[in-house]
Amino acid sequence: MNKIPVIAIDGPSASGKGTITQLVAEALGFNYLDSGALYRVVALAARQKGVSWADADALANMTEMLDIRFERGAVLLDGHEITDEIRTEEIGKGASEVSAYPQVRSALTVLQQEFAQAPGLVADGRDMGSVIFPDAAVKIFLTASAETRAERRYKQLTQKGLSADYQAILQDLKLRDKRDTERTTAPLIKTADALLLDTTQRTIEEAVEFVLDAYKKYINFSLSH
Ligand code: DC
Repeated sequence: MNKIPVIAIDGPSASGKGTITQLVAEALGFNYLDSGALYRVVALAARQKGVSWADADALANMTEMLDIRFERGAVLLDGHEITDEIRTEEIGKGASEVSAYPQVRSALTVLQQEFAQAPGLVADGRDMGSVIFPDAAVKIFLTASAETRAERRYKQLTQKGLSADYQAILQDLKLRDKRDTERTTAPLIKTADALLLDTTQRTIEEAVEFVLDAYKKYINFSLSH
């Protein structure tokens, strides 16, 4: 076992991936990759530099030149902090659009693979287990019903004192799911070797426990073979 262990966690928007991935990374002392943030940075950079979200080649060329860094929970683009700017609904929509282009995806492939550093990595996204880390030690496909995910997002927004419309959130989630699962390049799919983790009826703590258990089983299996 001299390979860096990777835990790949894939799933749709608002499935709780980000929170669960960070908690698993903390519990194991592993590095953390939020791959969705990279697509969000591409969408934001395109806006800043006047590149159209519809121009695949220009987006890919631009992406090759970007200096994207994660430092202590902050996201930096060309040295400037953009942590909050990439979290808007508008940039989320742009990320979903730009991530459909194979050119943009391949411009980000090596950058993502470089996150696999000792002692290990927990990576969340849509294609972590299927494309970026096909040899991952553990692959999880995390999901929850669209209604549950919409409710969670609605609560998040209203708790922050922001106005929110449940029906609009639900429609938007369904649209984003459709775009993420129906695109031809690296669509959101559960690979045969991924474990299904449905959080509709589970708490975050239970979901984290499920992932840690799966990793323990992997370690025990590797040690005994
Ligand atoms: O996880 P997120 O909502 O921050 O992701 C934003 C968009 O990026 C989402 O619509 C799908 C896309 N994405 C992707 O195509 N592949 C990934 N590995 C991660 C995100």
